[in-house]
Formats: sequence, C-alpha cells, structure tokens
Amino acid sequence: MISLNNLGVTYPNGIVALHNISLELNQGEFTVILGSSGAGKSTLLRCINFLTYPTSGQVIIEGNGNLHHPKTLQKHRQSTGMIFQQHQLIPQQTALKNVLVGRLGYHSTLKSLFPLPKTDQYIALNCLERVGLLDKALTPVKALSGGQQQRVGIARALAQKPKFLLADEPVASLDPASSHQVLSNLRKISQEDGIGTLISLHQIDLALEYAERVIGLGKGTIVFDSNSSEIRKHQLEKLYQTLA
Ligand SMILES: Nc1ncnc2c1ncn2[C@@H]1O[C@H](COP(=O)(O)OP(=O)(O)OP(=O)(O)O)[C@@H](O)[C@H]1O
Ligand SMILES: [Mg+2]
Repeated sequence: MISLNNLGVTYPNGIVALHNISLELNQGEFTVILGSSGAGKSTLLRCINFLTYPTSGQVIIEGNGNLHHPKTLQKHRQSTGMIFQQHQLIPQQTALKNVLVGRLGYHSTLKSLFPLPKTDQYIALNCLERVGLLDKALTPVKALSGGQQQRVGIARALAQKPKFLLADEPVASLDPASSHQVLSNLRKISQEDGIGTLISLHQIDLALEYAERVIGLGKGTIVFDSNSSEIRKHQLEKLYQTLA
C-alpha cells in the first residue's frame, strides 16, 4: 500500500498543482484518475515516485518507509513501473530489446553493458506474450502501430516485476479499439499479478468501464474518490465544472 499524506506541490512559478492530497493506493487495485486539463493528474502520478518532488506532505510505502529516505526511494522506483502517453521506447530497437530495458534495474551497470542472461530474456518474452505481442518480439518498434508500441511499453514496465504501475494518459493518442486493448491488458495484468495500478484518463466512459475505483481531481484537490459503480452523473458534472 502507498499512503499519500497531505501532499502538496507548488511549482517554482507559484502554481499550486496539488493541495492537501491524502489517499491510499492498495495492492491489486485498478484506479483511474479523471480531471480536466491542468487538474494535476500528471503531477500526482509523478509525485508517487518523486519524479516531481512534493513541496509538502509525505509519501509512505507500506513496509518500506518514507519516500524522502533515499534507500526507500530507490527500492520503490525499482518496484514501480511507469507508462507514458508517448511510449518513450527506442524506435530502431526490437520490441524484445525495449522490454529488456525493464530488467536493467536488476543488474549492475557493468553487467548491463553485456547481453542479459537467458532468464531475463525469458521474462521479457513472457511479458510480450502477456500483451499479445510475442510474434513481434524481433520487430523494430518503429515498425509497430501506436497501440502495439504502447503494449510494448506495458511489457517493459511489467518486466520490472512491479508492485505498482503508474500510467499517465496511456491511451491518449490511440484509436478506440487500441485503447480498449491497452486498458484490458493493463487491468488483466493488474488483477492477475496483484499490481496496484493508477492511470490518468480523459475518457469518462473508459474510466467507468475499466476502473474499480475512480478518483476525481479538480484544481489540485480530490473532488470524489469512489467505487466506479457508485459514481453519479452530478459528481462528473461537478468535476468538469472545476474547469473554469
Ligand atoms: N513543470 C511545471 N512547472 C510549472 N507549472 C507546471 C509544471 N507542470 C505542470 N504545471 C502546472 O500545474 C498544473 C497541473 O498540471 P498537470 O500537468 O499536473 O495537469 P494534468 O491534469 O496532467 O493536465 P492534462 O490533462 O492537460 O495533462 C497546471 O496548472 C500546469 O500548468
Ligand atoms: Mg497530464
């Protein structure tokens, strides 16, 4: 479990992106963050592994401690997979080589300069199989569609053997069919492996279809935090009213 306690982020330009956010993210839970542009979704996701440092409050990792401790942060980052809107893959490399990047954290810098052991190759192939791309293992990523590239990104995050997955608008640039495929891959993996998953989305319909829990963020504060089946229309209306 990850606990966020009174988390706040004020950027150097004075913008308060997050204000007093307190919530708990549980192992195996599939959670979507909704909110209009500028609500603070990316800032929140980035704070959870200190890619953006909170200016107030704390992030506590159960059994591992406060993220302000360098050792806790290092361990937490190793066990947290990130998935981005832009895939951040190496285009000319094969899908397999890209997924192997997820294994580098398990090896010393020196060892990672050489081909990784067979066990890592096996793990990477298994991850590609789980996102339905085993047959593309030796295809350069630049020859794959946007949806397939995003699934390589998921396989790479999965190869890290994460306890948590953080995904910032993973389907923003995908067509509806690819969006469904990516989200169903993510949810299946989260359920099967008990990985706590937090995803930001702009599509309400996808959030309600896939999420167990939906957090509504407006102007850097939590507007609602509910089981997806309990969300009411007026809550969504209120969330998007905070646009102004
Ligand atoms: N590096 C930064 N420096 C200064 N201000 C920033 C920075 N990053 C984000 N902001 C501001 O913080 C607020 C929250 O931004 P954030 O990117 O977290 O929102 P978001 O909900 O992810 O938006 P979107 O849906 O457009 O991706 C916005 O007002 C934004 O302009
Ligand atoms: Mg964002």
